[in-house]
Amino acid sequence: MTDPIAALTPRVQEAMAAAFGADWAEADPVIRPANKRQTDADVQVNAAMAAGKRLGRPPREVAQAIVDHLDHGDLVEQVEIAGPGFLNVTFSSAWIGRAATALREDDHFGVVRPPQQTVVVDYSSVNAAKEMHVAHLRSAVVGDSLVRTLEYLGHDVIRQNHLGDWGTPFGMLIEHLLEVGEDSDDARLLQSDPNAFYRAARGKFTTAENAEPAGSVGDFDVRSRRRVTLLQAGEEDTLRLWREILELSRVYLNRVYGELDITLTDDDIAGESSYNDELPGICDALQEKGLAVISEGALCVFLDGYRGRDDKPLPLIVRKSDGGYGYPATDLATIRHRSLDLHADRALYVVGAPQHLHFQMVWETARLAGWIKDTEPIHVQIGNVVGTDGKILRTRSGEVADLQHLVDAAFAKAAEVIAESRPELDAQTRDVISHQVGVAALKYADLSVAHDSGYTFDLDRMVALTGDTGPYLQYATTRIRSILARAGVVEPVGPIVVREPAERALALRLLDFGAVVVQVGETLEPHRLCTYLSELAQTFSTFYEQCPVVKAEDDEVRESRLALCHLTRAVLVDGLGLLGITAPDQM
Ligand code: ARG
Repeated sequence: MTDPIAALTPRVQEAMAAAFGADWAEADPVIRPANKRQTDADVQVNAAMAAGKRLGRPPREVAQAIVDHLDHGDLVEQVEIAGPGFLNVTFSSAWIGRAATALREDDHFGVVRPPQQTVVVDYSSVNAAKEMHVAHLRSAVVGDSLVRTLEYLGHDVIRQNHLGDWGTPFGMLIEHLLEVGEDSDDARLLQSDPNAFYRAARGKFTTAENAEPAGSVGDFDVRSRRRVTLLQAGEEDTLRLWREILELSRVYLNRVYGELDITLTDDDIAGESSYNDELPGICDALQEKGLAVISEGALCVFLDGYRGRDDKPLPLIVRKSDGGYGYPATDLATIRHRSLDLHADRALYVVGAPQHLHFQMVWETARLAGWIKDTEPIHVQIGNVVGTDGKILRTRSGEVADLQHLVDAAFAKAAEVIAESRPELDAQTRDVISHQVGVAALKYADLSVAHDSGYTFDLDRMVALTGDTGPYLQYATTRIRSILARAGVVEPVGPIVVREPAERALALRLLDFGAVVVQVGETLEPHRLCTYLSELAQTFSTFYEQCPVVKAEDDEVRESRLALCHLTRAVLVDGLGLLGITAPDQM
């Protein structure tokens, strides 16, 4: 066992059972980090508060009884009762040193794997026929970090890229493709800049639709609508063009995923169209179960407690009045499939926050229909990304750079930073490093803020080698690497022996890694890992300032400190890996 809190827990429980009776053996000892402003202790045990209430005894007296029965073993150095009845516990430095030494042998650095689950993660999920928005990038980055973390925890993860590959916008795109010619440069935009292709099609459609008199600038709008009907009827030539458009978007997406090191592959594509055949059955079943009714020609579900403006009942529109299926219909199919076929314990939808109501209504309906069994559907809400002017970064407005431009800008900025910090490196090496740094900058900015709050997209800040940034953490790993190189060791043997306060603080921080990763797997909040890694890097800096490593006073101390360096680097590298960030060898 390498987590001191996990080691302390049963000791406090045993003390409580001995003091107050066997039914206290499972009580939560409520162990929290100690308040460093009031004490030098490591943790605070708060169990006496609740226990005092239950026992009808003053908490300080309860605390004293726990102390009297507490077996310190080799773990606890000192316990003190403080305030109304907290126990301030200081761990033994010898124990910390041994645990840190053992941590080096653990492939997963102290992660205690929870019971294995099947987790479906729906992320990225861009609309192939619409402009890709920055929220899609953030969904890809957050989703990929969750996927990596859940796999590290031993879960069985099923990635699903719920590609928007069906529906009315495709009518427009197919007509546009026919007009520009399948082999034209304009058609190839689908591969290089699909947003531009989409904008061109949309522009033609709006112009035709708004023309006075109708039809005066052609009938692009009329043809696009007819094309949708043909597509949904499965007309062969239309389907062929549809497939061609999707193929080009697929190539585009794979390039973006490759550039950003997102683990999605073609095998993970489970787009809207794949549920198409199930939609009529879903509608029938909802009607049979008495859950859906026809209202103004549309098939709607009205759920208790969902009201719109004017307090009118809010419909979940499953089939529109023109017979087309709405977004809710496909999502009824996704949750049914993920629960009943894939047997997910958790089904994560890593999707923009504005879709929250949609998911609430869809899941509630699916529950009533009996389509969710032993599955917890979770909306991992993605907050907005705003520009430095505080306004929403829009791709549709044209003035603001779209996704590809943002990504390119991040790479360019990273290249500038590396050119400045390492001018002596050859261009090719610098390219590799700049790329890794650019990815780190983008991803860390997306991840270090709680996924449901917005953040400011500020290139200069996120690419900086100092501050709370991805590149700073990468830099910390390369710095440790050069310390080890200077000492001429690849893998120090240790053991880690804790003597100085700065060594102790660093070792204790390292021992937290496992619990933090477990917590991210439960709360689905990668920003907690970012905070941890950034604090770890800072704790390391303090250690390195205060404790000479290469020039340590004797060989034993040197070996122990080198082992601490090595372990810190390994934890940082694994932690960054869970964020989808690679640690360069040098920078
Ligand atoms: N394509 C959707 C959009 O761009 C996101 C899909 C998310 N996944 C889902 N199952 N609804 O807004």
